[in-house]
Amino acid sequence: MSAPAVSSMRWNGDRLLLVDQRKLPASLEFATCTSARDVAAAIRGMIVRGAPAIGCAAAFGVALEALRRRTQAPVEFRRGLDDACAALTASRPTAVNLVWAVQRMRRALPDGAAPPIAAARLLEEAQAILDEDVRANRAMGAAGAGLLPARAHVLTHCNTGALATGGHGTALGVIRSAVEAGKDVHVTACETRPYLQGARLTAWELQREGIPVTLITDAAAGFVLSRGGVDAVIVGADRVAANGDVANKIGTYPLAVLARRHGVPFYVAAPLSTVDAAVASGADIPIEERGADEVSGFGSERWATAGVPIRNPAFDVTPAELVTGLITERGVLLQPDAARLRALLGPDPDRNTEF
Ligand code: MRU
Repeated sequence: MSAPAVSSMRWNGDRLLLVDQRKLPASLEFATCTSARDVAAAIRGMIVRGAPAIGCAAAFGVALEALRRRTQAPVEFRRGLDDACAALTASRPTAVNLVWAVQRMRRALPDGAAPPIAAARLLEEAQAILDEDVRANRAMGAAGAGLLPARAHVLTHCNTGALATGGHGTALGVIRSAVEAGKDVHVTACETRPYLQGARLTAWELQREGIPVTLITDAAAGFVLSRGGVDAVIVGADRVAANGDVANKIGTYPLAVLARRHGVPFYVAAPLSTVDAAVASGADIPIEERGADEVSGFGSERWATAGVPIRNPAFDVTPAELVTGLITERGVLLQPDAARLRALLGPDPDRNTEF
């Protein structure tokens, strides 16, 4: 059975509706946000996740706060927005789209405008960020689909689909665009321990759209790649450093090493809002460490030995030298490095330059 791609979020007049991704695939439910605080909590609590999606949600968080405070005096309004921006920026550390979106919202705030006018302008900007993300994903999809043969077997990791973005997806967007272009694509999805974005979200998105998908454990990727027949590994990114190093979901780096070992191209699909030109290399990217409970079990079930020390880094860094190509809305950058990335970015006022 085939259905259109789900939308991760929807503006509903005076509130933001977010697909509650914690509940999938068991049920498709929406969480309602009416303030920046709600949105920051939704990001922190993984109701919404995926780098571009949290950027878009944060932008609406700023707009919601402005709407909520539009009857306040300008000084109070401004102070409230500053606090909201700080809370949103601090809600998760690794995906740079979050900071990028909040900074862009700050720049959109008209100097000296009355609060109701500023609030209307901020809502427009949030909608523009969401719309542009979908357009960027479509452009990446078109560029990336051209890299795949007519019959393609693609291995992917985590969830990079409509749920993780404003719509369509980054790595899954490439797969969707290839299918739309008439290609016969089979996807192998890694389950993505410990939060299981692959098993819960990627498998769900692809299955409901009728795109063939097989789920494997993360540890099975080496076996699958060693047996041949995989045409490409395509993943997304949470932050791309100025030298092309890529932070993405934990387990991405081993996939890049395996892909190189077995001669399989390794592509990263990411919009330019994911590039952080202020961070020289992957070593400088802040990596989120999450709670032990995600590793010791799932839901109410515990399987780890009680009391064992646990570490749970949520992302890893893949060195640029292992990346065959960076798929962006401006085309495919083969063998990304500092010089090539600089040339691709060019002078762009919206680019991440300082934090
Ligand atoms: O912890 P998550 O689920 O927010 O991590 C998401 C990822 O790592 C994705 O691969 C990344 O954001 C790129 S998706 C568009």
